[in-house]
Amino acid sequence: MKINLYTSPVYATKNSYATKSRITFGTTARDYTNKNGEYIGTNSWLFRDDIDWKQLTEYEKSHFKDKSKVNVIQFASSDGSEAYTKIISILENNPSKNDDKFFPIKAFDIDDEVVKAAKSGLINTNSVDRMELQMNCEDCDYTKYFTPADKELNIKNDLKFNSNKTLKVSQELKKRVIFQKGDMFSLIKKLKDNSDTILLCRNILGYFENNVIEKFVKLVSDRLMSGSLFIIGDHDIKNSYIDSFLKENKFMMIMRNVYKKI
Ligand SMILES: C[S@@+](CC[C@H](N)C(=O)[O-])C[C@H]1O[C@@H](n2cnc3c(N)ncnc32)[C@H](O)[C@@H]1O
Repeated sequence: MKINLYTSPVYATKNSYATKSRITFGTTARDYTNKNGEYIGTNSWLFRDDIDWKQLTEYEKSHFKDKSKVNVIQFASSDGSEAYTKIISILENNPSKNDDKFFPIKAFDIDDEVVKAAKSGLINTNSVDRMELQMNCEDCDYTKYFTPADKELNIKNDLKFNSNKTLKVSQELKKRVIFQKGDMFSLIKKLKDNSDTILLCRNILGYFENNVIEKFVKLVSDRLMSGSLFIIGDHDIKNSYIDSFLKENKFMMIMRNVYKKI
């Protein structure tokens, strides 16, 4: 089993014994072992700071300006926080009447428990999430996206964070994403592209061995056509050779964690 030692100034995770003493934040952090015995975490948070969401959105709007439809696909979607981040970024940065061409986002995760959470229309946040939301939603009233919920969201084996608050997800967000259970290792083989795909597969590949990651990257390269985007996260970069695998397989990095198929 691969043991990663992933740490950041405020965030340390990896194996379940580490979680007991870690300082952490986020909308979810549920640890489980998958059917192959690999340790997996569902860690996610709103506006996860390993992407410049504003810069990415501006790039996407310009890069895909001639496309009438853009397929935004998300593998490893966890509790929905990343899908909501993406939707808010698209709606709030240089808004245009064409923005709905990016929706609905098709979001997949293999874990029943987080898929159930995402589908519930509720999300657990703590003060860091709410601060990120406010910072990334400068001129907008974020209550159009989230309002206080009158019940608590319980995710099995999830860490409970300080000042945890369950929020209700608005219709504005819900109607723009479809959450489904799905295994990215099967889904990638069926993906169809016409140079109009944004594939987010963030902070999951770093959990696997390099040979598994390299094989997956080759499949991504086979399926995505020139101009489509493949987006990863810091956890993947820090725990694997994914950057080299992508560059060896016809991808170029265009900004932090964002790769374009050549
Ligand atoms: C660390 S979270 C990342 C969440 C989000 N992408 C982010 O960056 O904040 C990893 C997620 O990948 C999911 N996952 C693990 N194996 C998967 C697979 N084979 N297919 C789809 N999702 C998977 C886990 O259940 C977990 O919710």
